[in-house]
Amino acid sequence: MHPLQNLLEKNKSWAATMRSTQPDFFLKLSLQQSPEYLWIGCSDSRVPANEIVGLLPGELFVHRNVANVVVHTDFNCLSVIEYAVERLQVKHIIVCGHYGCGGVQAALKDNQLGLIDNWLRHIKEVWKKYEKEISLIEDEHRQLDRLCELNVIEQVVNVCNTTIIQKAWKRGQQVDVHGWIYSIQDGQLRDLNVQLSNSKDIETFYEAERTTK
Ligand code: CO
Repeated sequence: MHPLQNLLEKNKSWAATMRSTQPDFFLKLSLQQSPEYLWIGCSDSRVPANEIVGLLPGELFVHRNVANVVVHTDFNCLSVIEYAVERLQVKHIIVCGHYGCGGVQAALKDNQLGLIDNWLRHIKEVWKKYEKEISLIEDEHRQLDRLCELNVIEQVVNVCNTTIIQKAWKRGQQVDVHGWIYSIQDGQLRDLNVQLSNSKDIETFYEAERTTK
């Protein structure tokens, strides 16, 4: 038997179930996609974007990488954001991290894993930026949790500072950028209460950061 036969079988029964509830589901989808949301999340297999927000194919545009990092020179991520904003006209971008993220943990622990260390360097920068705040937390798990949250917030700001979002806001296109975090332990999403919708919001965000430091 083909080693992946079970996956192909599962796909067949999934497609049949979808067709039985909505006969024209795939036909409609084949003609166009019009998702309202772009999801930028971690590659972790325990954080499947569509499933945890209960959205069907066609409803969520997705980009995932290790530790949900948005880097200004990453043409993969930037291309996804540009396509989502300019072509698909998504209204919301959700950066979603998760507690217990292995990528964030590796950055915090200074483990040497290989090529990925260069990628995780970006999270080390977040750690350095908030080192004082994080070092005040006594519990090690809580330190990691906080860095996971701060990483999301920093990546939200990175999304907003891309030329793509800056241009969109300048021409008056409504795109809200949100920061969420997911708990693998209870399956629940938490809103980190960062929602940036225009350049002024970024200024306010930086201002609040300056006054809390
Ligand atoms: Co992760």
